Amino acid sequence: MRIDILTLFPNMFSGPFDESIIKRAIDRQLVSIVIHNLRDYTSDRHRIVDDSPYGGGPGMVLKPEPLFAAVEAIRGEAQIPVILLTPQGRLFDQRAAEELATYDQMILICGHYEGVDERVREHLVSDEISIGDYVLSGGELAAMVVVDAVVRQLPGALGSEASAGEDSHASGLLEYPQYTRPQVFRGWGVPEVLLSGNHAKIARWRREQSLLRTLRRRPDLLERINLTDKEKRFLEKEAAAGSR
Ligand code: ADE
Repeated sequence: MRIDILTLFPNMFSGPFDESIIKRAIDRQLVSIVIHNLRDYTSDRHRIVDDSPYGGGPGMVLKPEPLFAAVEAIRGEAQIPVILLTPQGRLFDQRAAEELATYDQMILICGHYEGVDERVREHLVSDEISIGDYVLSGGELAAMVVVDAVVRQLPGALGSEASAGEDSHASGLLEYPQYTRPQVFRGWGVPEVLLSGNHAKIARWRREQSLLRTLRRRPDLLERINLTDKEKRFLEKEAAAGSR
């Protein structure tokens, strides 16, 4: 996979992309990430990327020319998804991460200031993504969040092939509680079942814990997933016990 990122602040990306899973995915050539400074795609002496809004008002708006020039230079004749990071976009979630992970290439545009010229939205961008209902100072942190969630989906990006599938949200449920050594810490033990060596029993306990945790913390998620009749009965019983 190749990801091109257009930004006014290329230095923001060093650090997050130089560590851990993203670094390993880059080293293993599962992904290449190219950061472009938007100013490199200006054609005036002052390398101007923004201007005041027509009609007046505060702040600055990103000009269309450098964005079109950058995207056209990167994609040539190819059809590549162009994604604008903006609080006005569709909400990013695990499903969206899985969808983006199927692309061979994508271009991410980090918006800034008061926004981007609307013609960019209408004629250049194919998708708009928000990482949550709050306003960041720019799309850079949002782009890093998207890249991280997408890259960890790529086969081989994680140490063990199974890990991505067991993340919270991968199944549509929150993840079950995890424990590691010591077996007793400050007097607090580990659930017996995890020490039993009985893998079927452990799998059943984990599934129940995922269901319970999701019921208690994010009941909205339960509406979107397919549960067995047995799981539905289990949750109904727990929900009834919880409301008593
Ligand atoms: N840019 C500013 N805020 C944002 C958000 N919540 N998501 C994506 N891009 C943004």
